[in-house]
Amino acid sequence: MQLVIVAGGFGTRLRPLTLQRPKALVPLLNRPQVLYLFDRLPDSVDHVIVAVNYGYAQLRDFFRSADVGRNVTVVEEETPLGTAGALKNVEGHIGGTFAAMNGDVIDSLDLEAFHRFHRRHGTIASLAVWRVDDPTGFGVVALEGARVTSFVEKPKREDAPSNLVNAGRYIFEPEVLDFIPAGREVSLEKEVFPKLVIEGLHAFRYSGFWSDAGTLSTFLHAQAVLLEAGRAHVADDADVARATVHAPVLVAGGCFVEGRLGPHAVLGPGCRIGRASVRDAALLDHVSVDDKAEISRSIIGAGASIGEGAVLEDTIVGDGVHVAPHARLVGARVSG
Ligand code: GTP
Repeated sequence: MQLVIVAGGFGTRLRPLTLQRPKALVPLLNRPQVLYLFDRLPDSVDHVIVAVNYGYAQLRDFFRSADVGRNVTVVEEETPLGTAGALKNVEGHIGGTFAAMNGDVIDSLDLEAFHRFHRRHGTIASLAVWRVDDPTGFGVVALEGARVTSFVEKPKREDAPSNLVNAGRYIFEPEVLDFIPAGREVSLEKEVFPKLVIEGLHAFRYSGFWSDAGTLSTFLHAQAVLLEAGRAHVADDADVARATVHAPVLVAGGCFVEGRLGPHAVLGPGCRIGRASVRDAALLDHVSVDDKAEISRSIIGAGASIGEGAVLEDTIVGDGVHVAPHARLVGARVSG
């Protein structure tokens, strides 16, 4: 089976990090996000197609050098074609039943079980659904048994037909591509699913973990989920001897930490944290944090430096930015 990873959006909600790299390459627990999709791929997936508009050259170069154990073709879209247009654009590479996945979701989907479900129902499209407490920001399905009877994108709370939401994982027969007009932007969620509901669309429920990683809060949720799922670790050559560590945390090699770290903190390689506090946050590589700074619910870009006594909450700081001592940033997006 082939897999199409739809990974070419602008990732505006993770800016300024996505000004330097596509969202698929934003490090999540110190690995490019897109690699989590490869961790769970069954052997039956022998060809992966990555559909990209924004960040094409970086993704092409990444897959040229990364060994992901699969034949990968990165296909460029010259203009953004949306989540369905991206599939139409790779039609020439599709040779049969294929899976499609959003590149910015991490989860525990068993693709083999999903494929068996798809074959059993025998329709041209299946989507995986996940139960959430608040479905308002998602595509929400109404079901009769496993059959989807309606699909509503981002409904108001009172209009949501259930708490089961589109997990961004699909299995399609190639005929689905006939429902997608060529050469223009087309949304799978807004234009194609409503038509597929009439044709026959089935929803596969699963459990384990699922998290979108495309916004600051969902990125940090995905990070917490992965840390809790056993990916916490302090590298042997990281020096945390003088730190107060509240597990779970992930600390890469070459880090030096004196302050309070965690829970749910991730440090990329070569970070230096003075007598500061870092919790529920991701610091990419070579970030320095001076004494008395406090960082929470934030992502700090590579090579950034945070001055003494600065307070950062719900903030994204771009690569290489210097935050002045005693600055107070709440809900900020800071680029150089
Ligand atoms: P925001 O700008 O923050 O909304 O992010 P986004 O552009 O990535 O959009 P969204 O999170 O809704 O996209 C869901 C998935 O589809 C992500 O994996 C995106 O990379 C991908 N995607 C969105 N639009 C396009 C597109 O026009 N082309 C391609 N190839 N992928 C897209």
